Amino acid sequence: MTTEKIDANQKSELLGIIQNHEKRELIPILQKTQKVFGFIPQEAAEIISKELNIALPMIYGVITFYSQFKLKPSGKYIIKICVGTACHVKGASSLIDAIKEFLSLEEGEETTQDMLFSIEAVSCLGTCGLAPALVINDDVYGLLTPEKATNLIAEIQRNEGV
Ligand code: FES
Repeated sequence: MTTEKIDANQKSELLGIIQNHEKRELIPILQKTQKVFGFIPQEAAEIISKELNIALPMIYGVITFYSQFKLKPSGKYIIKICVGTACHVKGASSLIDAIKEFLSLEEGEETTQDMLFSIEAVSCLGTCGLAPALVINDDVYGLLTPEKATNLIAEIQRNEGV
């Protein structure tokens, strides 16, 4: 959970989302909230709770039940590494190890300090013929080795001036 403050524009956008939905439509409200912020900030959850008169623990119960919802901001580039069967067999875990090491991510950390990259393990991306594969934002990369994967990230870092 993060305590980042939300600004006045974001707050009015959130109130608009809430007003356009029924109380029973909590999941669509949370989905749209996450689109605005990139995650569900604590203050947004509190506003939703107050406006819909739903207890805050119940809202957090829904947020934590569904893996689509995030309680922390993600990096600019989200690297989804496939750990489905085909990718697992072809070395997905060595990709994960190499990427984590390259990005200096400690155990349990998902996002780099500079907020440029987040990593996620996901199930089959539907491109098993390209195993092992990963997606960076909307771009799919396949037939990867640890070196190819870290080169992709290094290229993004160069483009971002890191
Ligand atoms: S198992 Fe990785 S793309 Fe299908």
